[in-house]
Amino acid sequence: MQPMITFALAKGRLAEQAFELLEQLGIDCSEPRNPGRQLVLWDKKNNVRFILVKPSDVPTYVDHGVADIGVVGKDTLLESGRPLYEVLDLTFGRCRLCIAGYAEQHQSATRATFRVATKYPNVARSYYDAKGQTIEIIELHGSVELGPVIGLSDVILDIVESGSTLKANGLTVLETVCECSARLVVNRVSMKTKRDRIREIIDGLADQVSKLNN
Ligand code: PRP
Repeated sequence: MQPMITFALAKGRLAEQAFELLEQLGIDCSEPRNPGRQLVLWDKKNNVRFILVKPSDVPTYVDHGVADIGVVGKDTLLESGRPLYEVLDLTFGRCRLCIAGYAEQHQSATRATFRVATKYPNVARSYYDAKGQTIEIIELHGSVELGPVIGLSDVILDIVESGSTLKANGLTVLETVCECSARLVVNRVSMKTKRDRIREIIDGLADQVSKLNN
């Protein structure tokens, strides 16, 4: 019997695209595709278990070893700071982490400290630390673009995908922090204890990804 593998998947679009790849490897994703209110789903035949969680919780489950493998955006992974093996760029879910604001006015004249509104406080801290710039971080949980529009912050650090949210609010990209996409992450202990099975999954997914991109 193959060792059981548990996948932690970020609910939503990333999970949908992950199912397509996993199905190419012969893993049955019919249960997690239609989970209802169930949070633990199975492909019993292949001894694969799925948990569907909030994107920002994927690194937590994998780091604690209750999931062996996770699919998560690079942005979320960076923010988590968790010591996971990042083994494969799955190439879907592409976006950029950017500093955005008004093209003209980069800092409020009335405030001593430069304010950055973001859902990514850790990424913001290390980005500005590396530049040697002192900032104040305003942590928000959504609609971050409101920050500069309403005068809460000078800029935002957020993901930009199509750019339409920025455009609709009269903001522009000022700096690119990094390029992001979905990543396959593996628990450090599972990588040793379930090495053959995990290697097989990584190699199978890598093949699928290279087919998709050629
Ligand atoms: C994300 C992100 C931006 C937007 C970027 O927000 O925080 O607001 O998408 O996408 P775009 O460049 O294609 O416009 P999300 O839709 O997750 O909602 P939220 O603001 O409530 O977090």
